[in-house]
Amino acid sequence: MSEATPLDMIKTSLDQAKQRLELAQDSDDLEAWRLEVLGRQGSVTAMMRGIGELPPEIRKEFGKQVNLARKQLESAYEDATANINTGNHSSDALDATLPGTPTLRGGLHPITVVRRQILDVFTRLGFTTVEGPEVEQDSYNFGKLRIPADHPARDMWDTFWLNEQNSDEKLLLRTHTSPMQIRYMEDHPTPPIRIAVPGRCYRYEATDATHEWMLEQVELLAIDKGITLANLKGTLQEWARQMFGAKRKIMMRHSYFPFVEPGVEVAIDCFKCDGSERDCGICRGSGWLELLGAGMVHPDIIRDAGYDPTIYTGFAAGMGVERIAMVLQGVTDIRHYHSNRFSFLSQF
Ligand code: PHE
Repeated sequence: MSEATPLDMIKTSLDQAKQRLELAQDSDDLEAWRLEVLGRQGSVTAMMRGIGELPPEIRKEFGKQVNLARKQLESAYEDATANINTGNHSSDALDATLPGTPTLRGGLHPITVVRRQILDVFTRLGFTTVEGPEVEQDSYNFGKLRIPADHPARDMWDTFWLNEQNSDEKLLLRTHTSPMQIRYMEDHPTPPIRIAVPGRCYRYEATDATHEWMLEQVELLAIDKGITLANLKGTLQEWARQMFGAKRKIMMRHSYFPFVEPGVEVAIDCFKCDGSERDCGICRGSGWLELLGAGMVHPDIIRDAGYDPTIYTGFAAGMGVERIAMVLQGVTDIRHYHSNRFSFLSQF
């Protein structure tokens, strides 16, 4: 390798001087650097002075390069001075006083918020949360819930079938969370049972402002010695108060579901108008909001689960999370929830 030429040395001292300039933290450092590099005793001046000792043929080029280097160093020095005066040590240093770049923060889906509210109440009331499969067997979704094939009650749940209807075990997307009543009882040979079952359900239906082909439910099941309709009513009354306010009352009206006897439909009094406004956007003047189906678990189902129906009784309930969310959040079209529109979701 050939020895470094005088021109190489200019480049080396230029680079080193620039590096040291970057380390300058304040105006004292800058001044020290200026004296050391550009001052009368500085390195640039020293190089100029040494020019006479160089071979004559490179003196001209050497002088030119030193002058260029001096100009670069002078402008670097000015930049550094300006930066230090405005609080920047170098142009790409972090300025902690500038506003940050906003990052998009995620949030909980409005249905998740309400599902959690519902489950929080039932957790406080002693229910354990469990989940079941969304792809269900015909027998769990229907047969074991006393909804035989061809029974007119099947019309209550239009179904997405997943395989041939005449194959051995028909599979479907569950139409409600009630199958988990059966699954849980089969897995637990002895009561007491107190469970809350959240989960998605699917219905093969045309959609409109109050119907969607996918919905969430929360199912309740309580089995024990001596459970009565009064326990169902008390549980739902307390749930309604914690969800909708301490003044709320519930009303039960007779209804039919094949897996309960008696079956009821449960409504709360309107928390918006107390029934006083004829054109109330929530209850439409009726004063009542129908929220869920419920009832006493049919004794056949208790027996099929292997429990003695003369000893054990129980209640079950099933509620639609979207329906409750709409009421709480003032949403008038259920289809908004799963349409994935950011403008809708970011309101919550
Ligand atoms: N599973 C019923 C439905 O989806 C609701 C229900 C659950 C009714 C439990 C009674 C008891 O419509």
